[in-house]
Amino acid sequence: MRTLWCLVSLVTIVAAQPRAELDWWQTAVFYQIYPRSFRDSDGDGIGDLKGITEKLEHLKDIGVGGVWLSPIFKSPMADFGYDISDFQNIDAMFGTMEDFDNLLEKAKEFDIKVILDFVPNHSSDEHEWFVKSAQNDVDYSDFYVWHDGKVLTNGTRVRPNNWQSVFGGPAWTFHGGRQQYYLHQFDPKQPDLNYSNPLVVEAMKDVLRFWLDKGVDGFRVDAVPHLFEGPIDVDDSVTSAPQHRPETYEMVVQWRKIMDEKSVQYGGTKVLMLEAYGSVDDIMGYYGTPSAPGGHFPFNFRLISDIDKSSSAEDFSTVINEYLEHMTDGRTANWVLGNHDKHRVASRFVPELVDGLNFLAHLLPGIGVTYNGEEIGMENTFITWEQCRDPQGINAGPEHYLEATRDLERTPFQWDSSTSAGFSSSESTWLPVNPNYVELNLEAQKAAEKSHYKVYKQLTELRKNPTIQRGGAHVAALSQNVLGFTRTLPDEDTYVVVINLGDEMEVVDVKKALSEVPDKIKIHILGINSRHMAGHTLSSSSLEIQPKEAFVFIDPGNSVSMILPSSLFVLIVQFVIRYV
Ligand code: GLC
Ligand code: MG
Repeated sequence: MRTLWCLVSLVTIVAAQPRAELDWWQTAVFYQIYPRSFRDSDGDGIGDLKGITEKLEHLKDIGVGGVWLSPIFKSPMADFGYDISDFQNIDAMFGTMEDFDNLLEKAKEFDIKVILDFVPNHSSDEHEWFVKSAQNDVDYSDFYVWHDGKVLTNGTRVRPNNWQSVFGGPAWTFHGGRQQYYLHQFDPKQPDLNYSNPLVVEAMKDVLRFWLDKGVDGFRVDAVPHLFEGPIDVDDSVTSAPQHRPETYEMVVQWRKIMDEKSVQYGGTKVLMLEAYGSVDDIMGYYGTPSAPGGHFPFNFRLISDIDKSSSAEDFSTVINEYLEHMTDGRTANWVLGNHDKHRVASRFVPELVDGLNFLAHLLPGIGVTYNGEEIGMENTFITWEQCRDPQGINAGPEHYLEATRDLERTPFQWDSSTSAGFSSSESTWLPVNPNYVELNLEAQKAAEKSHYKVYKQLTELRKNPTIQRGGAHVAALSQNVLGFTRTLPDEDTYVVVINLGDEMEVVDVKKALSEVPDKIKIHILGINSRHMAGHTLSSSSLEIQPKEAFVFIDPGNSVSMILPSSLFVLIVQFVIRYV
């Protein structure tokens, strides 16, 4: 009996070993909150920190592991917080430092990690550094990127080069006080900091240390590829500042060292997640190397940038597989469907695909990232020109603002069907509430028999499963419009996900296209527009799938582990052997 017990214990260790290697952030769902639009506690029509604290319970309920807050720091709000005038203070609009401490404390109670937005590329032009720099104060004169401009043969002074800002218009603005041009890759109210100045590098490292010492668990780093831009004296054919410079990758490695030091000091990994758009190779560089690690992960935006409504199942599988092939050397994958800069998933695709796309973001290997509201399938909100607030929209003008504005995806969270969707007690909110809130809101989805919210919860629950956490993946197009993937792990459950992206009913052979699919597959989770029921068993070689239908199947043959997680099973066996 004793030998048998030892043997069982050994099995536990072997099975548990690889699991222990995964750190908290590698299996987590990260949830982005856009604080202005999440929950307004004081009725001024703008979301705030107390509002977030009030709603932490919701995050716990839906299985979120880490929450990333878009900037909450002191700001004139020209770019709604991405223009910071004091990196180490909370903007009064959002509350006080005490409110923030309180949020941190409550989040800890719920075991939800807190990630802040670190905006290193620029500050506000109202930051003390810029004010002093513009006055040529010796200590700050090189804090920003200043230039005399070019003098033409006729004697007129013009901008140093042709670089355009991301928001439209030139990236250089002449400062009357200092009589020089300054660089701003975004709004003129967001002057670029000069990273060639060691004082700037150190000052920004201090910002990281300050918040880590306050107890935050990491940072989402804004606009990383823009940090360094290289030589300014370039010819007129270059119309934007070069991105992804070697010095930029090196800067990230330096920040990572701070994160690692603080992880040791506080006993828990402090994560660095990077906002970087670019080619796969450009992005992979931000992981760094095993000897000089960079970010814990650069966001994978490919389901946003390389895929749209018209993409075929083959397009999806190509994009997903290409990315997965790069996940070598211990890199952790992640999947992003939306954020405050990109249109809502339900609107980029169609509302019927919301569950299917959430299956992708949360059941493919690695980290799942959710933008607030995606758990209930919120849609873009129509904004009139008068309501437009985003500088990128305003720059585009009344004719074209709708193509450029990011306001559409930033409207208030729809909590319930009361005033302003339960976001605020005020009827007027900084951006309008989507009129569809009467039906589309969290409370209604909690009450409904089927809802995106309920599906989402099932997904985050399923993410605790060892196969989803550590299993292999095989992704393939099953037909022109039907996408499928399997997740497998030896001695654990097999999962099969099938999504019909198209508008036609199809019959597909799942078994033929994907490895390790059993003949019979049992419905485990299903999208809300499916007519099936969980628990139904279907044939994998001729699976009938309706337009936009999405399924997560489980292998019904996988005996005990199907009912009990295997580690729990082993524990029960141990108990039986010992005491029975
Ligand atoms: C990032 C942010 C975006 C902001 C820009 C400038 O792309 O996500 O919202 O406008 O950086 O900070
Ligand atoms: Mg408020």
